[in-house]
Amino acid sequence: MTLFKKLMDKINGDFREKDIISLDQFTQKDIKILFSQVPKMRTIALKAMPSKIIAGKIVVILFYEPSSRTFGSFSTAIKQIGGQTVEILNPQQFSSVVKGETFEDTIRVFEAYSDAIILRHPERGTAAAASDAAKCVPIINAGDGVGEHPTQALLDLYTIYEKFKRLDNLNVLVAGDMLNGRTVHSLTRGLALYPKNTVYLLSPDDLRLSRKDYSNFIGRGVKLVEINSENDIPKNAHVWYWTRVQKERFKNIKDYEKLKNKFVVSQKFLEKYAGKNTILMHPLPRVGEILTEVDNDPRAVYLRSQIRNGLYVRMALLALVLER
Ligand code: CP
Repeated sequence: MTLFKKLMDKINGDFREKDIISLDQFTQKDIKILFSQVPKMRTIALKAMPSKIIAGKIVVILFYEPSSRTFGSFSTAIKQIGGQTVEILNPQQFSSVVKGETFEDTIRVFEAYSDAIILRHPERGTAAAASDAAKCVPIINAGDGVGEHPTQALLDLYTIYEKFKRLDNLNVLVAGDMLNGRTVHSLTRGLALYPKNTVYLLSPDDLRLSRKDYSNFIGRGVKLVEINSENDIPKNAHVWYWTRVQKERFKNIKDYEKLKNKFVVSQKFLEKYAGKNTILMHPLPRVGEILTEVDNDPRAVYLRSQIRNGLYVRMALLALVLER
C-alpha cells in the first residue's frame, strides 16, 4: 500500500499515483502517452496474456450510482493487468453509509484497504472531495453527477483518434443532453485541447449547456455552435456523439418526458444528415435515441470499438497510475 499521496494536479507526463478527476488535468502530451499504451493492453486482453503490471495492487470500486460499462470495464481492466478488486456497489444500501457514516469517512476507510479508489457518485464535485479526504491513494472519477466522466472522454477520444488518426481539425456533432451530460462536459474539454475543432451542440433549448459551462469552454478557444434543429447539422461532421437525456437528473418526470428523444437516429435520419465517413458514437446506455436498425451500419461504433476501447484505455490508465 502507498504511504503518501501526491497532490491532485496536472498529469504533466507522469501519471504515477495521480488522481484522475477531470480532463482539465491533461495536455495533448499526456493523452499521447496514454494512447501509446493502448495497443499493448489490447494484445494482453485479446490474447489472454498473463500480465502482472499491477500485481499485488488492490483497487476499490465504490459506486453510489448504477453502471454497466464503467463498472464492468474497470473491474475487468484491473484483473487483466494483474490486480484485484474490492467492489462496493450501492453503498447507500450495503455499507455503513446506511448507519450514517459520512462520505469522507467512507473514503478514508476504503483507502486504508487499497491502492486506489474508483468512485462514481450522483453529486458533482464528489471526486474532488474524495481526493481531499483520501491521504494516501489516488481517486479515479468514474462520473460525478452532472460534472465529469474523464475516463469516458479518454476512451471517446481514443475511438475518434483510431478512425481519423488525429484529434484536431474535426467537426464533432454532440446531441442530446448538454446540460446534464457529464460525458459531454469531459469530451468537450478534451476536444478543446486540440486546435481547430468545432463542436456542434444539438439539443432542445432547455438542455443547452449551462451558461457557466458554455463560457468556460469558449474561453478555451474551442468553437461551439449551439443548434436546436436537425436541419442545422453540418454535412461534414466527422463524428456524431449521441447521448441520452439524463432522466435521473430531473426533479419533475413530466419535464423529462417532454424533452426525451427529440432527436432520434433512425437509418433514414443517418442517410439524410450524416456523411459517408461520419462515425456514430454513444457513451450508452441508449434509451431510444438510436434505433437498433442502425446498429449494423458500418458508421455505428457504439457497440463495437467504443465499448472495447473502454476496456483497453482503462487498462492503460490504471497501468500508468499504479505501475510499480
Ligand atoms: N458510459 C457509461 O458511463 O455507462 P455506464 O453508466 O453503464 O457505466
